[in-house]
Amino acid sequence: MSSAVKVPLLRLSYSDAEVRELQDELAAILRSNYLTMASRVKEFERLFAGFCGTRFALGTNSGTSALEIPLRALRVAGGSVVMPSNTYMATPIAAVKAGAKVIFTDCEADNLQMDPDDLDRKIRDDTRAVLLVHIGGIISPRLEEIQRICARRGVPLVEDAAHAHGAEYRDRRAGSFGEAAGFSFYPTKVLTTAEGGMMTTDREDLYQLGTVFREHGKADHGFNVHTEIGDNWRFSEIHAALGIQQMRKADSILAERRRLAALYDRLLDTVPEIRPLRIPAHVRSAYYKYIVFLPAHLSRDRLKSRLKDEFGVMLTGEVYSDPCHSQPVFTRQPELVANAAGDRFPATETVCRQHACLPLYPGLRDEEAAYVVQSLKQVLVTWN
Ligand SMILES: Cc1ncc(COP(=O)(O)O)c(C=O)c1O
Repeated sequence: MSSAVKVPLLRLSYSDAEVRELQDELAAILRSNYLTMASRVKEFERLFAGFCGTRFALGTNSGTSALEIPLRALRVAGGSVVMPSNTYMATPIAAVKAGAKVIFTDCEADNLQMDPDDLDRKIRDDTRAVLLVHIGGIISPRLEEIQRICARRGVPLVEDAAHAHGAEYRDRRAGSFGEAAGFSFYPTKVLTTAEGGMMTTDREDLYQLGTVFREHGKADHGFNVHTEIGDNWRFSEIHAALGIQQMRKADSILAERRRLAALYDRLLDTVPEIRPLRIPAHVRSAYYKYIVFLPAHLSRDRLKSRLKDEFGVMLTGEVYSDPCHSQPVFTRQPELVANAAGDRFPATETVCRQHACLPLYPGLRDEEAAYVVQSLKQVLVTWN
């Protein structure tokens, strides 16, 4: 018998005052005559660049386009792009759509991030970019090694920061570590605009080219002169209004996510079978996900369904359960992947099977976090 949902996997938290403010903003936008790519988009870009500590930010219609744009601007077409296999398919899709082949690396078993040693082995002369994905909101504790490998090989580093708004490495924020970065504002993300994305960069040339790709390759918004094959990746004023409001709350959202994560850390001290992913002190996660490792004998699917059915606790989606190198599309189209035939991904395959993500979002009450951990304990003592 299924129990009623007591802890959902996500709750969006907008106060009544925030809802009213957005209603007023919508009315103002409708009366302004400018529904897309106007002053609110510019303001959101300015605020987001300030938040990340970059010179430029470019609003886009999705996180995927916020990755494809810098890859196109870096002219990856005809070459390869190296990225971890443990990522969402949007990462390789952006590279493939930008005209590159994909090379997957393994990850590090203790933190799920790209394995720098494997990157060093796999980066090639034709590699035109390395896409570093901050999985779960965590920046690789070995970021500087990855930066050094890219610098030595003369390959630009691009961050897939879809999970990592406000994540930090030695007090600098995600979005500022490579030549460019792409963020997503999908509703489950740390900051959301319903749909949308943002490219950040310090490079004026990439920013300028980005504006061209964002609008069908037009050299200038005002004229129909096309210098590139771009797309419609524009950002609307309505989405930007949502984003501007999020920027005001960004620091408190991050503080709350981190407070809840610390609470889970303490609560899980009493559950020896479940090992939380420990994040070294020089990295501050944005806690897009609160990740725990499960014992090898435990089936995650069964754990999830027992938590849901017996306790009404919903675990969130994993990061990730199905590694990209094993996706059926790459079996059907093997020419898209440039890995060597013998490449293996042992750490990726293990962590994809043996981790789970506990519900964590602003609005989750402390008693609910305690109930999640209590329910986990109950399931474990009755496991057979
Ligand atoms: C790692 C990663 N990269 C890129 C994206 C793409 O973002 P969007 O869904 O906004 O296109 C996502 C979205 O879920 C993601 O998780």
